[in-house]
Amino acid sequence: MKTRVAIIGAGPAGLMLGHLLRAEGIDCVVLERQTGDYVLGRIRAGVLEQITVRTMARLGLDARLKAEGMVEDGFALADGKRLIRIDLKALTGTSVVVYGQTEITRDLMDAAPRRGLEVIYEAGDVALHAVDSDAPWVTYRKDGAEHRIDARFIVGCDGYYGPSRRAIPASVAREYERVYPFGWLGILADVPPCHKELVYANHERGFALASMRSRTRSRYYIDVPLTESVANWPDERLWDELAIRLGAQAAANITRGPSLEKSIAPLRSYVFAPMRHGSLLLCGDAAHIVPPTGAKGLNLAASDVHYAAEALAGFFARHDADAIARYSDKALARVWKCERFSWSLTRLMHRFPEDGPFERAMQVAELDYIAQSRHAQASIAENYVGLPV
Ligand code: APR
Ligand code: PHB
Repeated sequence: MKTRVAIIGAGPAGLMLGHLLRAEGIDCVVLERQTGDYVLGRIRAGVLEQITVRTMARLGLDARLKAEGMVEDGFALADGKRLIRIDLKALTGTSVVVYGQTEITRDLMDAAPRRGLEVIYEAGDVALHAVDSDAPWVTYRKDGAEHRIDARFIVGCDGYYGPSRRAIPASVAREYERVYPFGWLGILADVPPCHKELVYANHERGFALASMRSRTRSRYYIDVPLTESVANWPDERLWDELAIRLGAQAAANITRGPSLEKSIAPLRSYVFAPMRHGSLLLCGDAAHIVPPTGAKGLNLAASDVHYAAEALAGFFARHDADAIARYSDKALARVWKCERFSWSLTRLMHRFPEDGPFERAMQVAELDYIAQSRHAQASIAENYVGLPV
């Protein structure tokens, strides 16, 4: 098979890029290792920045997002005693939208056939070849047969564990990493949210987040040591801990219910540079990971994909090879700022094992400063709603 762009991975990054390229009339094929149902089974964050909302609107795939998404004009930081509201709308003129990432993926997946976007699921042993050249190709195995796709470009949207990033020689690459000494234990339950906006809390006992998927489905997290196991957290114990950490005001309205899902996810900051080598571009988790504090993962994937689609459209429509050459620097400039924000919010809101009374006092002082300073709130707000693309 021959195409212009072979995309590896049908997560939100790969599917969004595929749709953007199809909208520009650029031929592409998406290769996914798993089944569609498996991809939709992953539970991920659900706060959308304007870049993600705008991209779905531009694709004309935002009907459900508009109908079911919850526009949030603010969120709160909590310090165990009070809620410090960050008024996104007043401070930035814009908002975020709560809409599960799984739903974005579903909307993109459902629209693929009618938009002529070919997605090949259950593609095994995907391998990249000759990415240094102008004629790279991808091989994969499906239904017992070996297949080959020749392309002009390959875009790796295959997440942190995919093969794309590894096709870039170590001699030209640089990795930056911070692994955090805790994970988030999450619970999903069919109960109304305890607060109309998200609450990120830093209590003496640790971090907690009250989030939501809809008016009837809530998502909560606490931080736990990496050695912790879900089995130690029966629902009641988790609800008790959430009620303490979120503070009296939020806790007063917690509705408890049986968990639909409960799991622990480690936290990591990671950047791989460059995000392009030869004819291979990387987008999304294939190139970087952010800790979930701030919910930047999907939104960063959306901004990468926006730059990648622009570069590829420049190349194919205007024969602008420089557009491809500029991709990595352009994408990384925004990636680093989002990494900084996710890292600093993680630092502010969690207890690190090495922290003593001084570090705790610094956190308390910073939260107190934020509570009193409109400038500090504005800085958090502009990062939270999403920096310009
Ligand atoms: N071959 C084909 N596909 C692969 C391979 C492979 N060898 N390895 C991984 N994939 C697929 C995965 O099965 C997955 O569907 O690539 C996809 C990557 O999707 P995500 O991990 O969701 O990454 P991305 O699309 O970059 O999304 C970025 O969304 O999923 C969240 O946590 C993620 O918030 C982040 C954002
Ligand atoms: C979520 O709803 O899962 C969520 C929300 C905000 C975050 C992280 C996760 O910062």
